[in-house]
Amino acid sequence: MSLPQSQPRPQPMVDRCICHGVSFADIRAWADDREDTTLDKVRAHWGCGRSCGMCRPYIQKVLETGDVRIPLMVPTC
Ligand code: FES
Repeated sequence: MSLPQSQPRPQPMVDRCICHGVSFADIRAWADDREDTTLDKVRAHWGCGRSCGMCRPYIQKVLETGDVRIPLMVPTC
């Protein structure tokens, strides 16, 4: 008798600032219309990153790569 093959778990993805309900796709579209967009400018315009701050590294990735679905980042201790 063989064991059932386990299916790989899908990678959890993050696609928005939860606190402010703003999608990374919206942030990217906004950033694409501007030059030299920074995290501080995103924060000033959208409010993202002002509350819990968990979205900051994801928004930085959006600005660097253009990706709007970022794999969940798990802090390592
Ligand atoms: S998830 Fe963006 S400020 Fe909390």
